[in-house]
Amino acid sequence: MIVSPSILSADFANLSSDIEMLNRSNADWVHCDVMDGVFVPNISFGFPIIKAVSKLTDKPLDVHLMIVDPDRYVNVVRDCGATFMNVHYEACTHLHRTVQNIRAAGMRPAVTLNPATPVAMLSDIIGDLDMVLLMSVNPGFGNQKFIEHSVKKIKELKALISTTGSKAIIQIDGGINRTTGKLVAEAGADCVVAGSAVFGAPDPIAEIEALASL
Ligand code: DX5
Ligand code: ZN
Repeated sequence: MIVSPSILSADFANLSSDIEMLNRSNADWVHCDVMDGVFVPNISFGFPIIKAVSKLTDKPLDVHLMIVDPDRYVNVVRDCGATFMNVHYEACTHLHRTVQNIRAAGMRPAVTLNPATPVAMLSDIIGDLDMVLLMSVNPGFGNQKFIEHSVKKIKELKALISTTGSKAIIQIDGGINRTTGKLVAEAGADCVVAGSAVFGAPDPIAEIEALASL
């Protein structure tokens, strides 16, 4: 299992020590949650922080943009050192153009679906994506309860990927811990995002290891 710890739950007053912990761990990527207070009812952190994080780690940055019209920031996100630029289906009027712009900027395009958005909405774009993120909570906050219905969506997405021959991998974000992680692993997820389960654990490195071996 690919593990992408979300620094939304890190200690922002000691961000460098939390990133150094991730560097020592088996984490594959670093998940950066950008919120604008418009698309979601919360504001997290923006581009200067991502740029600072990129200087502290060699791990790929997986940037999840919970903002309206993310197309405006493709080059800015690239200049922050992002590997994945992940945009919400619900926030992009011209999703195909945005995905092409992300690829042209040299990043790997990913699209996120909110819990109420059906997997079928991606059927005409799935072949252009490197990753699909299924939200298993409503985006905006860490430490929420996993929505069980997400398991069914993973299976539907897996079927869409195999029938279309897409190379997209399946990422799950929200309420992931060892228990829910097992459910999503069994359903076919390739990657889990975990915030509070990692940074709230007594031993975050061991927690990452447990998720990696799901
Ligand atoms: C929620 C964010 C998540 C969040 C997950 O809107 O997209 O990445 O950090 O937090 P946990 O793992 O605590 O549910
Ligand atoms: Zn996220």
